[in-house]
Amino acid sequence: MTEKLFTPLKVGAIEAKNRIVMAPLTRNRADNDTGEVNDMHVEYYRQRAGAGIIITEATQISPEGKGYLATPGIHSDAQVDAWKKVTDAVHEAGGKIVVQLWHVGRISHVSLQPDGQQPVAPSAIRADVKTFTENGFEPVSEPRALELSELPRVVADYAHATEMARKAGFDGVEVHGANGYLLDQFLKTGSNKREDAYGGSIENRARLLLEVLKAVTEAWDGDHVGLRLSPFSPANGIEDANPQETFDYVVEELNKFGLAYLHMVEGATGGSRELAEGQSLTALREKFDGVYMANNGYDRAMAIETVESGAAELVAFGRPYIANPDLAKRLEKNAPLNEGDHKTYYGGGREGFTDYPFLEEENA
Ligand code: PHB
Repeated sequence: MTEKLFTPLKVGAIEAKNRIVMAPLTRNRADNDTGEVNDMHVEYYRQRAGAGIIITEATQISPEGKGYLATPGIHSDAQVDAWKKVTDAVHEAGGKIVVQLWHVGRISHVSLQPDGQQPVAPSAIRADVKTFTENGFEPVSEPRALELSELPRVVADYAHATEMARKAGFDGVEVHGANGYLLDQFLKTGSNKREDAYGGSIENRARLLLEVLKAVTEAWDGDHVGLRLSPFSPANGIEDANPQETFDYVVEELNKFGLAYLHMVEGATGGSRELAEGQSLTALREKFDGVYMANNGYDRAMAIETVESGAAELVAFGRPYIANPDLAKRLEKNAPLNEGDHKTYYGGGREGFTDYPFLEEENA
């Protein structure tokens, strides 16, 4: 019998041919000046079209949303033209692809910002973490707090990026609400000390995310929009006084938007799946009305069991997709997986990007 993991599922408007998702992976190979992807990306994503859904690497919605060297954007016409080649290639190969919409907030460096300006954040609190710049790993810069009057512009940037994503031929967009970037910075108490309508109470801290979802679903529709959250992850120096309470509210509110899916980083991003006492992802999953995509440290057996039991409808794989372009097929055949080379994860050329072997090549 075929396990459910390998069977199709309608995810909002997206017909996924299986329940295996390629998670967003930052690879720092776009043009650093223009934010355009190139022929290498066309090949890289085409190779991975066996996934039910590909989620692109995090992609900035505006110049201000950039926080690392050589990440792509989805705000200029040239970027749209470049992405169009990627979406065409994935579609031709029978795949589906959504773009992850990213604003890094305070996780940035003046050298990556327009005119060397300060990165923006809910509050002027620097995170004690590093980012990757022209000079290698450097501490992030001191941010400035966004003015209340600037927030409608930030929301409009998400809507604009969504329109650009449609033009580029994507099957949908994923709003990046996770991992200590802008929207997560607003949600969580450690980074949001605002005293206006966007800080303090849970309703206020969630306001920007919910306004972004409203704008993005109006620019397209809920059926083409996913959301990624990481309620309990400390990624990028983020902290919340009571994440269960915060996310109980957030997830409840999500049901108003008819989203295609909710993508959960379960535990610490790229790390432990353990939760602290009083924290429950099951409670959040049960509150959400739509398709639930699980992520973080899944292997074949866990993924099969999780989808079979109904604990999730989709499972997203990150690092295994770096070294296994045909991961979905390997999982289905229970074939061995290639190991990735960490030295080529971030930045560089084709090596460690488009040259990992497919099963047939290995067996030839
Ligand atoms: C990273 O570049 O390390 C990175 C980017 C986006 C994420 C998480 C990590 O969501």
